[in-house]
Amino acid sequence: MQSVVPDNAVIDALIERIQTKVAKVAVIGLGYVGLPFAVEKAKVGFSVLGVEQNPKRADRVNKGDNYIKDVDDAELADLVEKGLITATTEFERIRECDVLVICVPTPLTKNLTPELSYVENVTREIAQYLRPGQLISLESTTYPGTTEEVMLPILAASGLKVDQDFFLAHSPERVDPGNARYTTKNTHKVVGGVGPNSKRVAVEFYSQTITNVIPVSSAKAAELTKVFENTFRAVNIALVNELTLLCDRMDLDVWEVLDAAFTKPFGIMPFYPGPGVGGHCIPIDPHYLEWKAKELNFNTHFIALAGEINRSMPEFVVEKASRILNDQGVALSRSKILLLGVAYKNDIDDWRESPAFDVWARLEEFGATVDYHDHWVPECELKGTFRKSVPLTDALIEAADLVLITTSHKVVDYSHVVSLAKAVFDTRNATKGIVSEKITKL
Ligand SMILES: NC(=O)c1ccc[n+]([C@@H]2O[C@H](COP(=O)([O-])OP(=O)(O)OC[C@H]3O[C@@H](n4cnc5c(N)ncnc54)[C@H](O)[C@@H]3O)[C@@H](O)[C@H]2O)c1
Repeated sequence: MQSVVPDNAVIDALIERIQTKVAKVAVIGLGYVGLPFAVEKAKVGFSVLGVEQNPKRADRVNKGDNYIKDVDDAELADLVEKGLITATTEFERIRECDVLVICVPTPLTKNLTPELSYVENVTREIAQYLRPGQLISLESTTYPGTTEEVMLPILAASGLKVDQDFFLAHSPERVDPGNARYTTKNTHKVVGGVGPNSKRVAVEFYSQTITNVIPVSSAKAAELTKVFENTFRAVNIALVNELTLLCDRMDLDVWEVLDAAFTKPFGIMPFYPGPGVGGHCIPIDPHYLEWKAKELNFNTHFIALAGEINRSMPEFVVEKASRILNDQGVALSRSKILLLGVAYKNDIDDWRESPAFDVWARLEEFGATVDYHDHWVPECELKGTFRKSVPLTDALIEAADLVLITTSHKVVDYSHVVSLAKAVFDTRNATKGIVSEKITKL
């Protein structure tokens, strides 16, 4: 990158505005990442403007009406009441703000390639209103190079110079929905800037709310750090999923083997199998890296293999469910199945990319009648059709030929479920400690 002569006056003024909390912060995209982020910043005294394309969401925020489980209802209402958080659909209002934080989706296309249109659209909007003295930080997960190769050319077309007139950084969000122990505040935050001044300003901004900020040498290094973290999870989950397939053939309980293995106090860490991987990170982010590596004529073998194994799990679950039904003399095509839990992981309400849906779709393809219950997901959509969670009544449990646990939620009394069910297939070890011949584990 071309070196620039820093205009100290611009940097010093912005840093001072940040340190004194006079700086106004725009959070673009008020979803699972953006809304908690807005609350964290407002709590320390920043005035936060949420820029959200969905008018219903913007409206709800302005009424102090929370829609994200990790956000405290009363806290949001209080911050809105005090005028510290407001939301708008009008992009031009970013002119008012000193710091612009981007929290929009970065999904995959059907061909498992990056779908960067949200980031590109937002960057184009920002470029229209960009003014000197603004910091732009991308929080969305993406492949190494996005900030510098995709965002910077769009922003630079404004005529303003990066690291001199405006500052550009990447700081990947690490939020773990439902995790009460590690929140935004006490989770280390990696920050990489496009140039030293951008890094300095971004580190200053994040240090206002986060205990440990970890600066890295570039935005690209920060981008790779995040996709590596999620690749690490995807690969290790694939490893225990593969072990599950082997244990099935060996007639061994994979959960027992893993619990025993994880008693080793060093050199190993816990990962658990399941019906596949879900959510906005693990099934997606590694493919961002895989795609970028291909540009360099490099094959990321671990990512490809992990994706293959993890995506094969729903098929295995359905095949094993069919075996369990067969043992009862019931054909899958004529069976009634109760799917218990569709969120992608325990105790949350997010069902995006949840493997439960692949299992569900396959069961229906084979002719099974499927009802679902999920305390946290009252309604959802399967292949374009609207579905509603049915109340978990005794009659519902008793009527099912098989209760298939696809997500484990603390609110469910699994002992009660097992006591009433004809058969239980537990893909999450939700029934750990319950002894019954009715239970088959993944
Ligand atoms: N959800 C997680 O647990 C998590 C964790 C770490 C990182 N991430 C990453 O953070 C990013 C955001 O994820 P999320 O789960 O918060 O997504 P989300 O879908 O919950 O929220 C995104 C929000 O952005 C809004 N939006 C889209 N385009 C917009 C535009 N042009 N202008 C204004 N608003 C716009 C959407 O309406 C939506 O409200 C993704 O890159 C994701 O990979 C997510």
